[in-house]
Amino acid sequence: MQHTTIKTLLDTPALIGSEVEARGWVRTRRGNKHVQFVQLNDGSTIKNLQVVLDMSRFSDEELKPVTTGSSLRVTGRLVESQGKGQTCEIQADAFELYGTADPESYPLQKKGHTLEFLREIAHLRPRTNTFGAVLRVRSALAFAIHKFFQEKGFFYLNTPLITASDCEGAGAMFQVTTLDLNNLPKDEEGKVDYSQDFFAKPTALTVSGQLEGELGATALGQIYTFGPTFRAENSNTPRHLSEFWMIEPEMAFYDITDNMDLAEEFVKYCITYALDNCMDDIRFLEQMYDKDLVERLRFVVDNDFVRLTYGEGVKILEESGKKFEFPVHWGTDLQSEHERYLVEEHFKKPVILTDYPKEIKAFYMKQNEDGKTVRAMDVLFPHIGEIIGGSEREENYDKLLARIEELGIPMKDMWWYLDTRRFGTVPHSGFGLGFERLVLFVTGMTNIRDVIPFPRTPGKAEF
Ligand code: 4AD
Ligand code: MG
Repeated sequence: MQHTTIKTLLDTPALIGSEVEARGWVRTRRGNKHVQFVQLNDGSTIKNLQVVLDMSRFSDEELKPVTTGSSLRVTGRLVESQGKGQTCEIQADAFELYGTADPESYPLQKKGHTLEFLREIAHLRPRTNTFGAVLRVRSALAFAIHKFFQEKGFFYLNTPLITASDCEGAGAMFQVTTLDLNNLPKDEEGKVDYSQDFFAKPTALTVSGQLEGELGATALGQIYTFGPTFRAENSNTPRHLSEFWMIEPEMAFYDITDNMDLAEEFVKYCITYALDNCMDDIRFLEQMYDKDLVERLRFVVDNDFVRLTYGEGVKILEESGKKFEFPVHWGTDLQSEHERYLVEEHFKKPVILTDYPKEIKAFYMKQNEDGKTVRAMDVLFPHIGEIIGGSEREENYDKLLARIEELGIPMKDMWWYLDTRRFGTVPHSGFGLGFERLVLFVTGMTNIRDVIPFPRTPGKAEF
């Protein structure tokens, strides 16, 4: 069987005049007793293929089950379209109905459902224009990410999802166990006896592949990961998911400046790729949700990101005279409102903040001479806030060990990580890009739940 997508039919002028076959789902049917028009969509493009049915050849009875949501195979001649807005249409000789969709119960009847409603029917929302567009852009961005790193000679490293260490040290992990929760084995002290658990110790879903990524980078030179990560924080915000995808490059011999250069080049590459390859979808999303979308994407690609230290950033916030919901001074973790003020109101450009206080950053970051700050970098974006977090890593064994002890991180879990600093340690750096935050930015959507097919958030694990 030939599998020509509707995208190919619409984009290949050479096919005009030939007999073709199209398959897809009916978006609408309208017309009169002489001619009926079906808008057919197969997900390959935002555009529908118009199917023209000459009613001297079909009966009303035959057409009756061809309702919104039903699925069809149509054969006929591809001809140039008379109607405006479409290049060609198919003049049907015959059609086969694969499946009906009862108009009484199929929920996607009309256009204009709210995004909140569509989240409740996430199993069907990929069939809408909006989610088709978002998911195609998401797929293109995933490809761009691999393309970028592969072209640069990075290796794709797969890090484990089940882990016994807490990379970010935030303690927000989902436990993984096969113990019977109704009948837990206990040790002499009355605590859960994990020696009887599947891995013979407590384990959880990973919050980041970075620690293993560093093992890869200190062997292969330049690696990247791209996989799901899990955070059990109870953050109900438009920018947090409990399960999200992260890209984590890690590079031997890179300092913080090399790291920033790579991060900036990387996000610009991904956005440019989407602009070059997904314009139909991006234009649709712009028209529906975000009038300045293309302009904003181009602006980010065309401008240098502003680079300054956390300390300088805090000073600007303090002197802004703006009343923030969360007060800000040196030492506080920046909230999204602070990040967005710097980006959207002060600089009006993406910003990279560096040298954060060590207390608000993870144990592995390279300590600065001042004893107070670490060589961290966060990339902040308009509408998003933090899109990337990264750092140069502490490569000095003694300093790293001292920090681990200071924070009370259990040493026995960290021996393998410390070995990278014992044997042939090198300066190295890396960062993590939240994939959904990038998709959010490129699609102009405002809620992160609308850029992943089946979102997981506190209290929600349907579909
Ligand atoms: O800043 P984070 O926590 O950094 C790390 O995990 C490091 N290990 C990365 C590294 O240096 N290799 O997370 C990195 C990025 C954030 O900037 C954000 O874009 C995204 O991951 N992120 C989330 N995205 C969606 N939902 C959440 N709950 C997220 N938490 C972080
Ligand atoms: Mg961060």
